[in-house]
Amino acid sequence: MRRISLRSVFSTIALSVCFLVLIFLFTNLNNHSNDTEFPQVKCDCPKVVQSASKTEQSASKTEQSTVPKTEVPAAPKIDVATSPPTVQPLPPCKQVENDSPVQRAILIYYPHHQSEYFFPEVRWLYRSWAEMLRDQPSKWRTDFLIFTYNFSAEFRSLGCISRIRQNKEEPSVCRLFLYVPIQFRTKNVTDNNFQYAFEHAKNLAKIYNETLEEMVTLPKTNDQKTYDAKRSELLYAVLRAYGYIDSINTIYEGYNTFNMYDFVLRTDIDVFIYRHFAKYIPQNCTLLTGGGGYGTDFNRRKLRRIARDMDFSHIGLSGMGSTWYGSPHDGYLVANQTLHAMLWLAQYEFAMPERESKLGTLMWPEWHYGVLLLYGQHLAINHLVGQNQIRIKIGADLLDQSTTDATTPYVQQGIRLNLHCWHTDNRFSKFAFKLGHYKQTELEKYRNDTTAQAYAMRMALESKYMTLEQMAKLVQSASSSS
Ligand SMILES: *[C@@H]1O[C@H](CO)[C@@H](O)[C@H](O)[C@H]1NC(C)=O
Ligand SMILES: *[C@@H]1O[C@H](CO)[C@@H](O)[C@H](O)[C@H]1NC(C)=O
Ligand SMILES: *[C@@H]1O[C@H](CO)[C@@H](O)[C@H](O)[C@H]1NC(C)=O
Ligand SMILES: *[C@@H]1O[C@H](CO)[C@@H](O)[C@H](O)[C@H]1NC(C)=O
Ligand SMILES: *[C@@H]1O[C@H](CO)[C@@H](O)[C@H](O)[C@H]1NC(C)=O
Ligand SMILES: *[C@@H]1O[C@H](CO)[C@@H](O)[C@H](O)[C@H]1NC(C)=O
Repeated sequence: MRRISLRSVFSTIALSVCFLVLIFLFTNLNNHSNDTEFPQVKCDCPKVVQSASKTEQSASKTEQSTVPKTEVPAAPKIDVATSPPTVQPLPPCKQVENDSPVQRAILIYYPHHQSEYFFPEVRWLYRSWAEMLRDQPSKWRTDFLIFTYNFSAEFRSLGCISRIRQNKEEPSVCRLFLYVPIQFRTKNVTDNNFQYAFEHAKNLAKIYNETLEEMVTLPKTNDQKTYDAKRSELLYAVLRAYGYIDSINTIYEGYNTFNMYDFVLRTDIDVFIYRHFAKYIPQNCTLLTGGGGYGTDFNRRKLRRIARDMDFSHIGLSGMGSTWYGSPHDGYLVANQTLHAMLWLAQYEFAMPERESKLGTLMWPEWHYGVLLLYGQHLAINHLVGQNQIRIKIGADLLDQSTTDATTPYVQQGIRLNLHCWHTDNRFSKFAFKLGHYKQTELEKYRNDTTAQAYAMRMALESKYMTLEQMAKLVQSASSSS
């Protein structure tokens, strides 16, 4: 008796589960044909495509004119079938007002072990930050935050300190936080919660007579919100050779060093902060991104399919560039999901020869490992917007603007917030600059020239010929006069 009744109970349960699944499938399939219109993503094709190649690790130079047009302007559709049925309402928007004491930070990761290549970029970025500070409203503050593995002498000369911002009054300053890059997370470094990872930094601090309490070191292994040991290991195993992984991971693991700001600008190093940045903050609680031309019809479909595999929402957004400007929490959320997506892509969607760059740029722009970061953030942003966790605006005419444009209308018409180096030999070219092709004597030529090209030329050349102490003085005088 008992046995039989038990069996019938089970079969009843099984039947109802089947029934529910059927209903679920049916409603979802029905929704699928019921696509909703989504506002068109703007696309300024040739330029945008150009700027994508800058994210490539291989230093293959792509001329502006030779890059094929890939961004197809199409109205993306919301794919209801991929979004789970329960979506939270958007978080409430508390707009930051222009006349309040706005606090901002520019965030970069600096690979100290490749200083010969990257320090010139830090110099010009620093120089342009100082230039921007002169136009900043007197109550605003904009710090320059550098995540790197050595507080070396150059950064001390630049006036950088290793202390987290305490209040809204401190002047704008450069801050350096020690961070162990993924590629250095060998067993002997990660052992005992990174116990020995900062020996060299501590010894150096002693030489400079600094107190160790103020020294900020990352990751913070006892903080669940910013450290995930399993993922850290996986990043080491899978992505330690991918050059841009730390520029995303620092936004996740470094969150506590910048969550007190109203806005952060996550950026590559090969950029110039433009003057307009001084007075511009994102409106309506949006996260701004630049435009990025990695999207083709082929990879947009592929990424949508991958999103389904990952259980990620995908609402058809495409063409997001590598610079982000928004609230620290939005940056943290996007960094977290970008890391997740990059790991997924590297493991399941790229074969070993692709990961080892054996294909060169053969598959660009259809499917190219060099822009893994852009694919990863594509998935992350589509998911987070689809889940109502963030608001996005693709500011293709705001961020990641041209360093080569030599017309005055270009800078006057738009609100250009930063200029980003493209893979080009036209002025300003970071390659030509680093080869020493531009000379100090040319500075005079650009003195009264207000174009984007002249701005980049002037900032880069001045940063090369000024001493680090002179540049630090520029920042001090700009922030004390405000
Ligand atoms: C770290 O910085 C110090 C001071 O500039 C320098 O002496 C040392 O060589 C640097 N270490 C590395 C590994 O770059
Ligand atoms: C850890 O080991 C690697 C090689 O196995 C070595 O290069 C590195 O210096 C070691 N680091 C520390 C902090 O002992
Ligand atoms: C640190 O303090 C010692 C002793 O007071 C002094 O000799 C040394 O010059 C100081 N070093 C620096 C970098 O200020
Ligand atoms: C912000 O939102 C308001 C109200 O929805 C809208 O009128 C305004 O244009 C938006 N501003 C920007 C910069 O998008
Ligand atoms: C970070 O990403 C993982 C993987 O998608 C997700 O499970 C987790 O909830 C995210 N954390 C936050 C704070 O959003
Ligand atoms: C720049 O402007 C100043 C003042 O108007 C002028 O004296 C100088 O000759 C100009 N320089 C160039 C290179 O045009």
